[in-house]
Amino acid sequence: MDVQSIAYRTDLALLELGGSVVEDRGDRLVVRTPHNPTFHWGNFLLLDRPPAAADVPVLLADVDATFPDSTHRAIGVDGPTSDPDALAPLVAAGLSLDVAAVMTARATQAPPRPNADATYRPLASDEDWQQRVALAARCNEDHPADEYLAFMSSKARTDRALTQAGHGAWWGAFVDGRLVSSLGLFRAGEGSARFQSVETDPAFRGRGLAGTLVHETSRWGLAELDVETLVMVADPDYVAIRIYRSVGFAETERQTQLHQPDRRVSRP
Ligand SMILES: CC(C)(COP(=O)(O)OP(=O)(O)OC[C@H]1O[C@@H](n2cnc3c(N)ncnc32)[C@H](O)[C@@H]1OP(=O)(O)O)[C@@H](O)C(=O)NCCC(=O)NCCS
Repeated sequence: MDVQSIAYRTDLALLELGGSVVEDRGDRLVVRTPHNPTFHWGNFLLLDRPPAAADVPVLLADVDATFPDSTHRAIGVDGPTSDPDALAPLVAAGLSLDVAAVMTARATQAPPRPNADATYRPLASDEDWQQRVALAARCNEDHPADEYLAFMSSKARTDRALTQAGHGAWWGAFVDGRLVSSLGLFRAGEGSARFQSVETDPAFRGRGLAGTLVHETSRWGLAELDVETLVMVADPDYVAIRIYRSVGFAETERQTQLHQPDRRVSRP
């Protein structure tokens, strides 16, 4: 399958760098992350097009048989645009539809109110990486704590190994030695690098930390990673997209994701 979406192409490039395995079944890709089975978007099917309504039961049975040890269902649909009408049968079957904005930039500028109080640098020490897991937990308190910490600790080990192998870096904004905002930027093929998981500590939001961190990391990436295009995927309705626009990103595509956190539970 020839993947059209730059968001999925860069997702797959990063997943494969991190040890995920991609199987091509012609009209769909099967993505597996054997070392992290609770990573929903590391264990999913990517379809080349929306399924016909009549094919949905067989598709869901295929997802469940393909990922027997998972409790979630995650299905991506390829393409640079998203058609909610065509996806309605999957939504009716209990999956929720997320359409993300795919933003790209070939250069960035500082945000209107840059934050000069923080220190911006790549994560390096064991303590830096422990702080990244703790920051992610503070930013995601709505997830079940044990499961989320297990997932995030495994993800952080993978991300750190990627930085040590020279594929990119995980950057942080530090205030008095405390990690308060972080993100990843990794080479993702075809002259592109992909941003990952921009997060600011809830107690430190609205101070220009994420905007400044994105700009500082972009400058570093364009200079050091030998890439021309930076790719960022964001919720189109959320504050994040304004921050990325303010430093020079423009929306170029949409990404389609369908998700059911627990397939044993029917929607109310
Ligand atoms: C999205 C997120 C990373 C933003 O982090 P942040 O550090 O608060 O971002 P910034 O401070 O750079 O910008 C936030 C807002 O504060 C404003 N701001 C920046 N400096 C400011 C200042 N000195 N005074 C007042 N407002 C300021 C920015 O202009 C921006 O305003 P806008 O919403 O009107 O565009 C944060 O909300 C977060 O972690 N969310 C949860 C995780 C998430 O969803 N991440 C996005 C994944 S794509």
